[in-house]
Amino acid sequence: MKTYVVGNWKMNLSVGDASVYLQRILKRYKAARGVEVVIAPSTIAIQTLALQLARNKSRIRLCAQNFHQKDYGAYTGEVSVAQLKGLVGYALVGHSERRYIFHDSDRDVREKMAAAIRAGIRPILCIGETEMERVFGETADVIRDQLLGGLSEVSREDLKKCLVAYEPVWAINNNKKARLASPDEVARSVKMIRGQLKALYGKDVAEEIPVLYGGSVTAATAGGYLTIPGVNGLLVGGASLVSDEFLSIIGVAKRVRE
Ligand code: PGA
Repeated sequence: MKTYVVGNWKMNLSVGDASVYLQRILKRYKAARGVEVVIAPSTIAIQTLALQLARNKSRIRLCAQNFHQKDYGAYTGEVSVAQLKGLVGYALVGHSERRYIFHDSDRDVREKMAAAIRAGIRPILCIGETEMERVFGETADVIRDQLLGGLSEVSREDLKKCLVAYEPVWAINNNKKARLASPDEVARSVKMIRGQLKALYGKDVAEEIPVLYGGSVTAATAGGYLTIPGVNGLLVGGASLVSDEFLSIIGVAKRVRE
């Protein structure tokens, strides 16, 4: 299985700045076997970056941060995965900022998973417990509910197109009380995720789905998370906004694979 390094830029960088950033990465980035580098820019920058990547024949892939689950229609201000088809290879679904700031419901998450698959785009289903849920010992229930809910409209055949990102909400950088999740904590949750996937779909499917970790990952902590059994990559927010730092994280992923 590949190792995935996904940079989530969230609502940062103008189109011009995004393009300059990408040029900097393209100059120094050497593709490595088995390491898939993915960038999730703002929707408005996707087309520019897609053209830039194509012009450079780059293997770096793009990811949508969000989209509407209907393909076309009267949905003012929205962008669908059907429209993003051909520009992105991946799409985040159920990111905690979507769930908690924009109130994406379990139904939205389910429908967005199905819409991405329909468009031939690989969905990255983000799951993870809040601080309160962790304190009350509900992590396993949250993981089960969010996995079950998110994957319920995905056919068995399509499950292998999905990725799961475990992102405990309390460890995400923009949470003011953020603290880092220790590799042991992440290992426990990833084991639960694999266990749930196995119980739901069987061993073969459970082993085919890449599980990424995200939550304030930096170049300094990347290696510790990437060497956890069952972790196949990283979803990086804040640290992906600094090109040197992002390149260092990619470097760590390459080394861990060797
Ligand atoms: P962070 O964001 O690395 O800034 O914590 C991760 C994410 O929200 O995907």
